Amino acid sequence: MVREATPADHGACLGVIRRAFRTVADDLGIGGPAVEGRLASALTSDAERDIANAPRFPADWAEQRFAAAIAGDGTLLVAHRAGRLVGCVFVGRVPADAAHWVLKRLAVLPDARHLGIGRALVGAATERARRAGATRLTLRIIAENEVLGRWYTGLEFCRRSELQHPGWSFTVHEYELRLVHAPVAARPVDPEAVAGSCEVGERE
Ligand SMILES: CC(C)(COP(=O)(O)OP(=O)(O)OC[C@H]1O[C@@H](n2cnc3c(N)ncnc32)[C@H](O)[C@@H]1OP(=O)(O)O)[C@@H](O)C(=O)NCCC(=O)NCCS
Repeated sequence: MVREATPADHGACLGVIRRAFRTVADDLGIGGPAVEGRLASALTSDAERDIANAPRFPADWAEQRFAAAIAGDGTLLVAHRAGRLVGCVFVGRVPADAAHWVLKRLAVLPDARHLGIGRALVGAATERARRAGATRLTLRIIAENEVLGRWYTGLEFCRRSELQHPGWSFTVHEYELRLVHAPVAARPVDPEAVAGSCEVGERE
């Protein structure tokens, strides 16, 4: 069900990202050009701008912004259901740290939710990072999105840090999945399985 995207999938993926994140923007009352402008003017360093890419809201992505993600955010994985592309996610390594991979823009169309597609995409992204030798997979979410935070916790991610910046109207939580490198024979055979671990006491 999950495979790597080809260029022919890119238009559909941008549509999925926009529509998936529109429900978040509507639920949380965020996004839009006003937020982007506020963020840009509040940021002074490259590092801050890099962090700000996370909350720059995908519901409003232009084609150029999607193209930048294709160029810089690693591999794009896609999920299909009944022949239709219904979900996607970016996963890739941090340039300075091969052991640290990042998951971004997980998106499933509203009418295809609650069927396990999001979980399958996270599982496939996790497996890709693990096979590449990563020891940790991280992601960032808007803290107000408590349903999403609980969902990632249920997928074995642990909340690690809280980020706040002047100009942001929201807080960002970073989550981490520690990747287990079991002997080959002991690895799960299900490629969609999510098998990470948190230290005792660090799970929510
Ligand atoms: C988060 C998301 C990818 C989950 O996709 P999915 O295919 O429905 O995921 P699954 O079927 O594996 O799991 C469903 C669970 O997702 C959780 N969830 C998180 N955010 C949700 C949202 N905005 N709407 C619905 N469910 C959401 C719920 O706990 C849900 O559980 P339920 O089915 O018992 O209600 C999807 O809801 C989505 O695209 N949301 C908007 C974009 C987003 O927030 N992406 C994450 C950015 S890091």
